[in-house]
Amino acid sequence: MSKLFIYYSFSGNGDAVAAKLAGKGFEIRKVESEFKLSRRLFPQMMKGGFSAAIGQKPALTGYDPDVSGYDEVWVGAPVWNARLASPVNTVLRDTDFSGKKLTFVLYSGSGFAKNADARLRKEYPDARIIHLRQPKDVPEELAKLD
Ligand SMILES: Cc1cc2nc3c(=O)[nH]c(=O)nc-3n(C[C@H](O)[C@H](O)[C@H](O)COP(=O)(O)O)c2cc1C
Repeated sequence: MSKLFIYYSFSGNGDAVAAKLAGKGFEIRKVESEFKLSRRLFPQMMKGGFSAAIGQKPALTGYDPDVSGYDEVWVGAPVWNARLASPVNTVLRDTDFSGKKLTFVLYSGSGFAKNADARLRKEYPDARIIHLRQPKDVPEELAKLD
């Protein structure tokens, strides 16, 4: 069973998930975007929160949307403003997951994401959703991936 983890990370929590899944035999595809957030908290929240709220799909850098070689695909997204981080909107638009066993791993400050859940349940009713609270700082959360 070949498994792929596609993910975006702005501040490293997604990288902690990727390291764990790489150890479990996943191939890893990190998404890079032209969309950049400030390192300062307030402008970061304003820009990222707004972008997520309006469902922006920023351009990705060198993203390969071909998942045909995998049986199972996991998609990792930070939660922004209770929604998916906007670069992940582009991933979902550009990738055909049909026929794949699909899991979403959402990492957030709170461990929940109301709007993201509602959207994913609607658009991918068969997918599993796993929520992790700050796995970079709370490594016990990574046990939810086992
Ligand atoms: C713009 C922005 C908005 C955020 N909004 C939320 C939110 O609505 N709920 C929440 O629990 N955490 C929120 N967070 C916290 C992130 O989801 C959390 O730090 C996550 O683990 C980041 O993943 P990363 O380090 O892989 O980028 C937000 C962070 C940013 C930068």
